[in-house]
Amino acid sequence: MNSDFVIPTLHESTRGLQLEQVSLSAIADCFGSPTYVYSEAALRQAFQAYEQALAGREASICYAVKANSNLGVLSVFARLGAGFDIVSGGELSRVIAAGGDPAKVVFSGVGKSVAEMRQALACGIRCFNVESEAELERLDAVAGEMRLVAPIALRVNPDVDPKTHPYISTGLRSNKFGVAFDEAMRLYELAAALPHIRISGIACHIGSQLLDPAPMEEATRKILALVDRLKGWGIALEHIDLGGGLGIRYRDEQPPPVAEYLAPMLSLLNGRSEKICFEPGRSLIGNAGLLLTRVEYLKHGTEKNFAVVDAAMNDLARPALYDAYHEVVEVDRRAVPALHYEVVGPICESGDFLAHDRKLSIEQGDLLAILSAGAYGMTMSSNYNTRPRAAEVMVVGERMHLIRERESVESLYALESRLPQG
Ligand code: LLP
Repeated sequence: MNSDFVIPTLHESTRGLQLEQVSLSAIADCFGSPTYVYSEAALRQAFQAYEQALAGREASICYAVKANSNLGVLSVFARLGAGFDIVSGGELSRVIAAGGDPAKVVFSGVGKSVAEMRQALACGIRCFNVESEAELERLDAVAGEMRLVAPIALRVNPDVDPKTHPYISTGLRSNKFGVAFDEAMRLYELAAALPHIRISGIACHIGSQLLDPAPMEEATRKILALVDRLKGWGIALEHIDLGGGLGIRYRDEQPPPVAEYLAPMLSLLNGRSEKICFEPGRSLIGNAGLLLTRVEYLKHGTEKNFAVVDAAMNDLARPALYDAYHEVVEVDRRAVPALHYEVVGPICESGDFLAHDRKLSIEQGDLLAILSAGAYGMTMSSNYNTRPRAAEVMVVGERMHLIRERESVESLYALESRLPQG
């Protein structure tokens, strides 16, 4: 077993693996498996790293709710004073239900509906990150009907290659996100002329799991040049939102510490009057969580050995979707010889794997922890194969809190009905 875990509050003890002061096997005994388990201390540490890096500046940290939207998680960030980056009316409702302040919410996304705009305007969110001309016009009309004025930033696409997985790179000209850099001036002029729009800032987000600060430095340079041009045209911005994107270690990646990642951007921002905003998701929650799963069967084949576990691609889609690597570790030490296993779920698809070729010393019935699963784990889960979603538990010191019950099978078809006969 590896003693240098990617999750900072995970460690070995005489009772097997512990997250903070709680043993993972105690969690499985209480709540069953598969279960997502998060460490409140790890989450707090990650947030404080951003706070420290931004100390002394007028900056806000808007947690990207899509990474993990459990109310328990959101409530921790709300108490830490975070703002929130949302992409739907549903996420806005969650933020409010968790005690978050709508006045600290920024609303991203390419497809905001009229209903979502109304909801966000009624709540008084801080800013709409507008991604197209059509959206700008719709927002002006909706705000007009409500006799309100909508604060906006244009999400500008700086056309910078973030050098990450193509599915999670978002700042290239060929992506669906944001408005083209060359279009931005014209759209700001249009926005300035719309009666129910108030220009507040500019936003950009170029991709996720970034390990090198250089692309964001280049994007910031481009954005600032645009901000200065706008000022020359009489459009002064109050804030600059540089999105999220900082990567985490899943395997052997070496992401820069938060302060190092932000430093080149912050030095470009030195001496400027605009407030700053960041929208981190993964780097706040990714390595604060794991997926706890139990080995149902071991199948020893001629070519491969399989560990069939009770978690599957419906619980954690990242391996199947992106071929993503997640560390897998035994919860208890066993005296059995280690073998190489394919760690797979019960779903009837060959793509249903959680890990390939891992050396594990396990027996049927053992628990495994799939690490770095705090971000884009539960939020991307599904009910494929009529599998109830996993429970979620937050560990705080020596206490465990159930923050989401395991779904019941009945709840999965509660909204459905049989066709009447005849
Ligand atoms: N802001 C915007 C506008 C975004 O689109 C995203 C993520 C974030 C902030 C947060 O980015 P982060 O700090 O987490 O990198 N499902 C994929 C990741 C998709 C990210 C989408 N946008 C995965 O599992 O890797």
